[in-house]
Amino acid sequence: MIPDTFGRPLRNLRVSVTDRCNLRCQYCMPEEEYVWLPREDILTFEETRELVDIFTELGVDKVRLTGGEPLLRRNVETLVRLLAENPRVTDLAMTTNGVLLAEQARALYDAGLHRVTVSLDTLKPERFRALTRRDSHGKVLEGVDAVGRAGFKGLKIDTVVMRGVNDDEVVDLIEYGKRVKAEVRFIEYMDVGGATQWSMDQVFSRADILGVLGEYYGRIEPIVEESSAPADRYALPDGAVFGIVASTTAPFCSQCDRSRLTADGMWYLCLYALKGIDLRKPLREKASREEIKALIVPGWQARRDRGAEERLKLRDRRVLVQVGALKADPHLEMHTRGG
Ligand code: GTP
Ligand code: 5AD
Ligand code: SF4
Repeated sequence: MIPDTFGRPLRNLRVSVTDRCNLRCQYCMPEEEYVWLPREDILTFEETRELVDIFTELGVDKVRLTGGEPLLRRNVETLVRLLAENPRVTDLAMTTNGVLLAEQARALYDAGLHRVTVSLDTLKPERFRALTRRDSHGKVLEGVDAVGRAGFKGLKIDTVVMRGVNDDEVVDLIEYGKRVKAEVRFIEYMDVGGATQWSMDQVFSRADILGVLGEYYGRIEPIVEESSAPADRYALPDGAVFGIVASTTAPFCSQCDRSRLTADGMWYLCLYALKGIDLRKPLREKASREEIKALIVPGWQARRDRGAEERLKLRDRRVLVQVGALKADPHLEMHTRGG
């Protein structure tokens, strides 16, 4: 186990396979125009596999494919197959917006993907259009239905709750989760790079969510568990389980074992980090595994990041990165470093 300066192990790697997305969610991609990563910089599947293999030799056992929208990467199931061959990867998951999932769920399952998490913020088609500027609500619901049919277990639904936008749907989403056999997780709106419209008064907090659900369902029991997962889990009186990711009001930095690899091979040690470590360059210059490890290991050992906790300490908390800086370095965008 490689500990960082706070003793947090290097275990959980989020691999973004493309910075492109087919939605324009208000909390993530609210701008009209984006600067995309140059195509020639995007890692090939072989290059991604090589880096993931190196990370797993250093202790990573959880790998999550993200985007942008990972299903926009052509033949992404081929990458899934390559990663699933690695016996050190004991948990291979994907976070997707679900739009293309109905078409691809079967192939992903057959390729060896273990778990799927679908982002879904509303059950109302009109509201979906307003939130995402696209008309694909029906396709997302079909995608959710396809997950179980393809054979997957452990479906999760991630909902970013925003005050005045979709906070009136938390009960409906829980009921929906019961119907489709998914664990719903409510996520606080975070002031990450890319959330250029963020403000504290739009954050619908864990306390707010528990308040609404408690009023409707009665007693809500916290589930006590030791884990590095960001979600606190709770049980309803009927046994249904849901989660809350309270990254904005109650960050989990002290347990955080995750780092991120962007589609062009930059390695970030924190969601809020302004600088990353370039792994593409040495990889393409044919560095040996040992030479690449000699970048990763000291990088992790020096890690002091507690981005969300530091944000919490700010008295006047505003947008993390202004639009101009995002355009100058798209790596600062949440959609580039993986939601
Ligand atoms: P499992 O618990 O293994 O299923 O995965 P996960 O919860 O890590 O995955 P998911 O991609 O669904 O993440 C859920 C949400 O947690 C994200 O959408 C973010 O809002 C938040 N989150 C993910 N990674 C980080 C992180 O590195 N830091 C912080 N502060 N929040 C994160
Ligand atoms: N706040 C919280 N979560 C976010 N995501 C992206 N931007 C934000 C934000 N500003 C996460 C959501 C979404 C996933 C793709 O990325 O959980 O479901
Ligand atoms: Fe981890 Fe940084 Fe997120 Fe904290 S803010 S949980 S250290 S990635």
